[in-house]
Amino acid sequence: MERFLKVNSLKCVRCGLCLEVCAPKALVFSADFQPKFGKDGEERCTNCQHCLAVCPAKAISICGRDPEESAAVTPLPNGDDMLRLIQSRRSIRHYRHEALDAETIDKLLDMLRWVPTGVNNHGLHFSVIRDVAVMDEIRERVNSQFREWLTMEEPPQAAALMMRYKAQITAGLDVIFRGAPHLIVAAVPQNAPCAAIDPVIALSYFELYAKTLGIGTCWCGLAAAALFAVPEVAERMGIPANYRVGYAMLFGPTERKFLRATQPEAVSVFEVK
Ligand SMILES: Cc1cc2nc3c(=O)[nH]c(=O)nc-3n(C[C@H](O)[C@H](O)[C@H](O)COP(=O)(O)O)c2cc1C
Repeated sequence: MERFLKVNSLKCVRCGLCLEVCAPKALVFSADFQPKFGKDGEERCTNCQHCLAVCPAKAISICGRDPEESAAVTPLPNGDDMLRLIQSRRSIRHYRHEALDAETIDKLLDMLRWVPTGVNNHGLHFSVIRDVAVMDEIRERVNSQFREWLTMEEPPQAAALMMRYKAQITAGLDVIFRGAPHLIVAAVPQNAPCAAIDPVIALSYFELYAKTLGIGTCWCGLAAAALFAVPEVAERMGIPANYRVGYAMLFGPTERKFLRATQPEAVSVFEVK
């Protein structure tokens, strides 16, 4: 694959940091100590852009990216702020029945460009429901399907995972989508090197960023499973061929405020000596 490495030789300070941070060792020094692709370097390059990001002189452009257009990475939140964000994260199951504005959803989706993926694969695909009317249609279609299955004498296998919620679902409660106005589903190419984990990392970042914007989220294994138990809805989600669903997350505006952190047990740790 062509990667188009461009080095501004007037700016390059020949420091070699780009070579040092290049994980696949795709770069070598040219005769006058500027970076260039080594033998097979272009094929090994994963477009992680570490070379562009580390260069103190903004001398490197890769894959057509201009370092002048990179976002600033300072100031960072401090450790205490970050810990408070993590401690304040909660699963939100009560939402206002209204859409977030388009700009806010765009911000959330754009952030996903920066999430890490194994071998920098970045093949993730996100299906998002922005329109509350569409969400309500899908909510009703899925819930009515499960209401029907769960009241059968012998429910089909697809209904098994909802058995424990039978009373609530048949009473008309939206246990699956929790009344949320929006849903995001992360899907991944079946052959991605880290297909099992990439979607989960992406949604973890989504959850925390959403929290900083005052938006509620909820991991939703039930939605992920339910959508794909109802093929017509799965099709509507627009998952590309040869992709598989990673996970689903509900999100939307909420009034619910948790006033203090929970007090979980310490995690299990084994110190290897
Ligand atoms: C992988 C995963 C799947 C989950 N699926 C659901 C779900 O389908 N419905 C739901 O209401 N909560 C779901 N949750 C939320 C958990 O129930 C929740 O994390 C737990 O009750 C602790 O609450 P907290 O997230 O506020 O700390 C899920 C959480 C995770 C991590």
